Amino acid sequence: MHYLDTFPAAINRPAIEAALAERLRWVNQQKKGFLRYRRPFEILQQYRARSVDCDSDTIRIGSSTEVSVEEQAAIRDQLRAFMPWRKGPFSIFGIDVDAEWRSERKWRRLESHLPELQGKVVADIGCNNGYYMFRMSAGQPEFVLGFEPSVQHYYCFKALNSMAGFHNLDINLLGVEHIGLFENTFDIIFLMGVIYHRSSPLDVLASIHSALKPGGSLIIESQALPGDRPIALFPEKTYAKAPGVYFVPTGSCLENWLQRCGYSDVELFCSHPMTSEDQRRTEWMTFESYEDFLDPKDPMKTAEGYPAPWRVFLRATKEKKNRP
Ligand SMILES: C[S@@+](CC[C@H](N)C(=O)[O-])C[C@H]1O[C@@H](n2cnc3c(N)ncnc32)[C@H](O)[C@@H]1O
Repeated sequence: MHYLDTFPAAINRPAIEAALAERLRWVNQQKKGFLRYRRPFEILQQYRARSVDCDSDTIRIGSSTEVSVEEQAAIRDQLRAFMPWRKGPFSIFGIDVDAEWRSERKWRRLESHLPELQGKVVADIGCNNGYYMFRMSAGQPEFVLGFEPSVQHYYCFKALNSMAGFHNLDINLLGVEHIGLFENTFDIIFLMGVIYHRSSPLDVLASIHSALKPGGSLIIESQALPGDRPIALFPEKTYAKAPGVYFVPTGSCLENWLQRCGYSDVELFCSHPMTSEDQRRTEWMTFESYEDFLDPKDPMKTAEGYPAPWRVFLRATKEKKNRP
């Protein structure tokens, strides 16, 4: 059964199916850029873990005792094909994958503020390799759907989940721009590390609102400007060397965006300055990382001279019924 069969009648099924088919045609091309990730997925899907643990900082899929030394070496080679690994940590058949981001630190900041996950239909928009989806699985959601347009992350998740074997986790190649097609579908939507990459952040928040069931929750995490004033930075070209960054809000600016997009019970539950404790170069991500994105003479500034980033975490609700 396709997961769309379980979604409410309100979804725009023809448009979703057309978008999914178009993305699958794209990713199924016999071109180097796709095969470099599809082949490792196809090889890795022959391994099925007997033990999986998603309830601690490192997601463990299988252990070294489940495979031979030769098999472990072959698995490691295929996992290296998904470099650079941005999110983790994972341990896969005893192979430790230390990713650029210590995603367990973000999860720890979030976990106690999450709504109950058990039995819920969840979307993780910009899910990357699914680190957070695997962490969610420990809360026994009914279903978690990852939205991830990147071919590298798409196949990395598919490889990991083919070894882990969760039937209630799935991924598609759609982006946040498609979320409005899923009207009244999700109990919980995660939007983490995405909003500052969108040129129309308010449109994004409004379409996510429409995709939540009445009473549903948005968990949003963003790069942010330090300070209390409700303002957003719009960089000239890059922010902390990243292209494709549009509006970088303060926490209170993001609160105002959410309120003005119709959310209620908006709560900023965590904010912290970014540090290289959270994001750094590793053996599995050998390019520049957080420290390289700052002014070498002043770590309070980005390489471009803007205020160095903070991260903010907010929860917001779609009201059950419109107030009279
Ligand atoms: C900064 S990462 C954040 C990953 C993860 N959510 C986290 O918080 O650690 C942004 C992710 O969004 C994905 N992405 C890129 N374009 C997107 C789009 N149009 N819609 C949804 N996600 C997108 C990227 O491939 C990447 O995995």
